[in-house]
Amino acid sequence: TAPAAVIVAIDGPSGTGKSSTSKAVAAKLGLSYLDTGAQYRAITWWMISNGIDIDDPAEIAVAAAKPVIVSGTDPSAPTITVDGEDASGPIRTQDVTSKVSAVSAVPEVRALITQLQRDIAAGAGQGIVVEGRDIGTTVLPDADLKVFLTASPEARAARRSGEIKGADVTATKEALIKRDAADSGRKTSPLAKADDAVEVDTTELTLDQVIECVVTLIEEKRAAK
Ligand code: DC
Repeated sequence: TAPAAVIVAIDGPSGTGKSSTSKAVAAKLGLSYLDTGAQYRAITWWMISNGIDIDDPAEIAVAAAKPVIVSGTDPSAPTITVDGEDASGPIRTQDVTSKVSAVSAVPEVRALITQLQRDIAAGAGQGIVVEGRDIGTTVLPDADLKVFLTASPEARAARRSGEIKGADVTATKEALIKRDAADSGRKTSPLAKADDAVEVDTTELTLDQVIECVVTLIEEKRAAK
């Protein structure tokens, strides 16, 4: 018989290897994959493109329902579109990265994106790996497995600056700490470890070791189902 659908929540701050780990684990186990940060980035990109004042939560709240955001959940080729347009490039710009915390702190934005995420997870027949900041605590509190990835600020900055051409590690570290503080400090659904999440410190681990660790945790859950 086919293994039961498994719902996996992977949370943690930026630079802990959430995306690389989640994609690889989903591909290995034949599960769908959802990058929820990409959805918050997509709505932020739409706000910037449409002249919405990012410093005005009320303006953001009113506009939040306008863009149509669609996520493709194949872990080997994840996609994201906004009103039918490919957003995978523009959502990774410095401009979006610096504004996404403010947009994602607006409760109306979170309510809409959270519903989108729950619908996608419910529709993933074979199971899904969902990565973000509040998946285990708010979006999918009944997930079969919750993982919370951490790493030292130095390790996280080094990984992130390695991903960005010509990036300066010190500047990257400062920007990253600032964004984590904003994400952890916001009122609505902050970045937090769920009580029943398994914490994995990735500072001294290779990507392959983290993948291996999460795959083992999922297989244990599946065997117990
Ligand atoms: O994972 P990322 O760096 O692409 O996420 C971008 C931002 O989106 C992050 O700084 C905070 C926000 N975010 C969130 O508020 N909740 C999530 N579940 C995922 C991301």
